[in-house]
Amino acid sequence: MPSHTVVLLPGDGVGPEVAHEARLVIELVAPDVALEERLIGAAAIRAAGDPLPEETLAACRGASAVLKGPVGDPEFDAADVRPEQGLLRLRGALDAYANLRPAVQGDVDVLIVRELVGGLYFGASGVRDDGTVFDTCEYHPDQVARVVRRAFALARARRGALTSIDKANVLETSRMWRRVVNEIAPEFPEVGVEHMLVDNAAMQLATTPDQFDVIVTENMFGDILSDLAAAVTGGLGLAPSASLSDSGPGIFEPVHGSAPDIAGRGVANPTAMLRSVALMLEHGIGRPEEAQAVVRAVEHAIATVPTPDLGGSAGTVAFGAAVREQLALTAA
Ligand code: NAD
Ligand code: IPM
Ligand code: MN
Repeated sequence: MPSHTVVLLPGDGVGPEVAHEARLVIELVAPDVALEERLIGAAAIRAAGDPLPEETLAACRGASAVLKGPVGDPEFDAADVRPEQGLLRLRGALDAYANLRPAVQGDVDVLIVRELVGGLYFGASGVRDDGTVFDTCEYHPDQVARVVRRAFALARARRGALTSIDKANVLETSRMWRRVVNEIAPEFPEVGVEHMLVDNAAMQLATTPDQFDVIVTENMFGDILSDLAAAVTGGLGLAPSASLSDSGPGIFEPVHGSAPDIAGRGVANPTAMLRSVALMLEHGIGRPEEAQAVVRAVEHAIATVPTPDLGGSAGTVAFGAAVREQLALTAA
């Protein structure tokens, strides 16, 4: 019997290209893991009329972890049923509220902890009779407290500095967020806390990203700031994420999207996906040594066979092959 079942959701655009490299790496470093492939996103809409078919969700619920490629296809941008709805439903169904988005390069080592199942993404939205369109941002203090506690605990295990990012000068939800952070702070006396307004935080991340250790923020701010953090540490092609619940499977996926501008050309950088594999090995199925081996092999491939986004000319497949070659060498 396999030790663990991991559901692999290749997704759309460059998703299947990077997911294939992820599969080959998992088969090499964790051959006892069963990989079950399922549909999500535009691929699932085309096959089943639903971006998150019941069968996909059931498989994810029953797995040790979910490894996901990006979803999204310009064909559905204006449709009522859209690929991204499948991803949001999956995050909600698994209650994967703590989204860890590390960005590391040189002196910069920042971990963004993004609240993932609340705020504008999950609030009421609609159209009024007069044509007004609305999205609402709502948070319950308990929803804030659980992700903030996670962030404090992560900061305690790192350099002990937590920056909570909000828009407390304008938003009611942000003022409550700030209050909850301050209430929890005494539980973590080893951690220093700072509050920062999101507009300034964007500027600080762009100019002096090395000042940050752990950042905690709400859903939409975290979405935007994590692309920015990726940009200042080598680009979107490098940035992985882990979305964790309190119990049950986590979702491991690149920060980047389906990259329709380069899809099908075999040039996508699979690093974000392979680093998501490493996060899955560590946080999803408890294999920290294999995770470290993947991280080091990817580092080696970045240095020796960079993809076009890094100024090189290696394709997705050549990069993946270099990673596996390095893994085989270091295992020998
Ligand atoms: P994107 O992240 O797909 O692409 C932004 C830019 O980064 C593009 O120039 C792209 O070529 C480049 N890029 C992204 N990943 C790369 C990689 N691995 N290697 C090299 N270059 C890479 O953002 P977008 O164009 O705004 O969004 C496209 C679609 O992806 C949309 O439908 C969006 O909803 C979806 N999306 C999905 C996820 C997800 O599933 N988690 C995340 C973000 C965006
Ligand atoms: C991400 C993506 C998603 C988000 C979209 C595709 C719903 O941008 O994972 O960062 O906004 O959370
Ligand atoms: Mn995003």
